[in-house]
Amino acid sequence: MFKGKARAYTNIALIKYWGKKDEALILPMNNSLSLTLDAFYTETEVIFSDTFTKDEFYLDGEQQNDKATKKISTFLDLVREKGQTTLNAKVISQNFVPTAAGLASSASGLAALAGACNEALQLGLDDTGLSRLARRGSGSACRSIYGGFVEWEKGFDDLTSYAKQISSDGFEDDLAMVFLLLNDQQKDVSSRDGMRRTVETSSFYQGWLDSLDADLAQLKQAITDKNFQSLGETMERNALKMHGTTLAANPPFTYWSPDSLRAMQAVRDLRKQGVPCYFTMDAGPNVKILVEKKHVTTVKTACSHLFSKKQVVSAQAGSGMTIIK
Ligand code: ADP
Ligand code: DP6
Repeated sequence: MFKGKARAYTNIALIKYWGKKDEALILPMNNSLSLTLDAFYTETEVIFSDTFTKDEFYLDGEQQNDKATKKISTFLDLVREKGQTTLNAKVISQNFVPTAAGLASSASGLAALAGACNEALQLGLDDTGLSRLARRGSGSACRSIYGGFVEWEKGFDDLTSYAKQISSDGFEDDLAMVFLLLNDQQKDVSSRDGMRRTVETSSFYQGWLDSLDADLAQLKQAITDKNFQSLGETMERNALKMHGTTLAANPPFTYWSPDSLRAMQAVRDLRKQGVPCYFTMDAGPNVKILVEKKHVTTVKTACSHLFSKKQVVSAQAGSGMTIIK
């Protein structure tokens, strides 16, 4: 029997990954850049044993159905190939983040699974190897191997597509992200299906790709300069552009709810009142607000007037994947 357990934190992209150029290998169309956060995470244990007759996947105490287990098995096949074993596995995972609600459970989930498998089978993967492995489970997971600011370089094949930490001279320690948990139900259109539909059908998609290099360069410069305004403006613009592409897909769709719009307006109103803060959104209705730590309380108080206190959760920069002994 071989066992491993790991914890990984979610990350939120400031420059989004939106679209694959290779569905099987999960190679992205564009580079993306994220901040790993400390409030939401996954802990996963994996056990490989010759007493198991098939793979089993337990999430939050419940055995998962065939479809969810199949996804895990496909990932485990990669791991088994690397570890030169045919043993079946039991995966026991706990999400300290709502699952499939646009809060990046796939990132923390697959990064934790990659780490646990590396430990269990003693694969000896370094961070780059782990990032490449996690990427095969879910693209954004390749960034959750690292803490702080992380860039996923799209690369051009399986070997060259992985994430790296970006040095920032501690800028991330000045920052916080306020999460507005507007809806924690599983979404109708997963990130995977949403980005595929957008790449295949959205007439706005080329515009997204064309503007990416400029957004990325500006965001990286903002990190170097520790320029919060430029960081926030670039992040917000990039998110709006990503969400714009879904409106021109066929059939069109959106991850926004009426509450998402209220939250975005609240951020704009706060800025008008002189509080620097900026929003981003992923494949779900929840809104995340980037703010300097010194303004967190102001932002949280303002949001608690619009939504319930329970719905407003703040996070700081988090660390990379860790093994739990
Ligand atoms: P999210 O916004 O939460 O990342 P996605 O639709 O992108 O939503 O991904 C959700 C999917 O990620 C789930 O359906 C499941 O396949 C996978 N996932 C989530 N949590 C875990 C976990 N702890 N272990 C393995 N896979 C997970
Ligand atoms: C909008 O990494 O969940 O959150 O690679 O298909 O598993 P798959 O998709 P996933 O997509 C994340 C999309 C996003 C943007 C981002 O995190 O960069």
